[in-house]
Amino acid sequence: MNLKEIPTPAYVIDEKKLKKNLEILADVQKKSGAKILLAQKAYSIYQTYPLIAQYLSGCTASGIFEARLAHEEFHAPDGSKRENHVYEPAFKDDEMEELCEICDHIVFNSIKQLQHHKPVWKKAYEEGKISVGLRINPEISTDDAHEIYDPCASGSRLGIRLCDMPSRLPNGVEGLHFHNLCEQDFKPLLDTFKKVEKDFAAYFPDTEFSYSEGEEPKGSQLRWINLGGGHHITRDDYDVEGLIDLVKYIKSTYGLEVYLEPGEAIALYAGYLVTTVMDIVETDRKPVLILDTSAACHMPDVIEMPYVPPLKDADNPGELPYTYRLSSRTCLAGDVIGDYSFENEKKIGDRLYFEDMAIYSMVKNNTFNGMPLPDIAVMHDRNDIEIIRKFGYEDFKMRL
Ligand SMILES: Cc1ncc(COP(=O)(O)O)c(C=O)c1O
Repeated sequence: MNLKEIPTPAYVIDEKKLKKNLEILADVQKKSGAKILLAQKAYSIYQTYPLIAQYLSGCTASGIFEARLAHEEFHAPDGSKRENHVYEPAFKDDEMEELCEICDHIVFNSIKQLQHHKPVWKKAYEEGKISVGLRINPEISTDDAHEIYDPCASGSRLGIRLCDMPSRLPNGVEGLHFHNLCEQDFKPLLDTFKKVEKDFAAYFPDTEFSYSEGEEPKGSQLRWINLGGGHHITRDDYDVEGLIDLVKYIKSTYGLEVYLEPGEAIALYAGYLVTTVMDIVETDRKPVLILDTSAACHMPDVIEMPYVPPLKDADNPGELPYTYRLSSRTCLAGDVIGDYSFENEKKIGDRLYFEDMAIYSMVKNNTFNGMPLPDIAVMHDRNDIEIIRKFGYEDFKMRL
């Protein structure tokens, strides 16, 4: 089956592009010594985990379900376990025991959470099963455009500010974690790390030594630092060399293990949403294409962020002869994907291909209006597309 034949709507993961991203990330790991984790919140198509696990060091989870998924599905090619990290603003009491069984790194969002769950994690820590970290708030905003994605915005609940940190790391804490980037190049990461290094210096190991690979840090119990996600490492213009140098600097200056946990970068531009034009409605403005997909249901970030997704063979409105508004068959007036122009007039039955649809799409979609969920497919090769998941009425009903 090829892209022109698969039933629509369908998300299609492009295995070749996924591999290309993974090769870049594997190279960063190799050259810098960093460990890169898949942030499953962006992409959880576990059927491709065997491929991803060939390249990356592990996964990170936003809670127990993602942690379980990685535990069950994300294994090295020889079957051995990869790393499994979890961070959540607050963990439920009845989840902590299981998390300590299936995860190797647990990151707490507050000193209260750390202390509250201590009776459970302390035992696992003493048995050498887990390493515990604290998420800090570096208090440096790097993205003015999207406040909902800024964990350092005023009033943020995400991470401990310096003024709320104890003078020493609490017993058992071996890691610091921060996350404050969104779709960014290297410079905002460098600015953030420099601020963390200065503000949180009291928690870092001694710098009088020069650490070689695997050497134990001295003068502090800190063993690792997690630089979070939001790094667009696999974008063509990303300063990969800058990132490699920073990781090497952290490792040789402090002797720390360095983690990066991007989500988007893993599957950036590695997926499509294929849709069909169902109707063309004339309005007092431009004609509207009614598609068998929906921004609200199948690409919620388009409305949440908001952004206009890239579309194959289309341009900005007015650039090409035929301009349309692309919309959906839900009843939500604002369920609009965007305005695009095309070389040729569109007809009912035409197919359109939204690009960059592997990330924050399948993990966020919903069945508002009783909209059917798109199939999920993997494109192994141009003419070899395999549908790995189909959805139906039961998927709508079972959640109600
Ligand atoms: C704590 C944390 N880590 C990693 C990520 C992944 O970020 P991205 O997909 O932008 O790389 C996020 C995204 O929100 C996050 O909140």
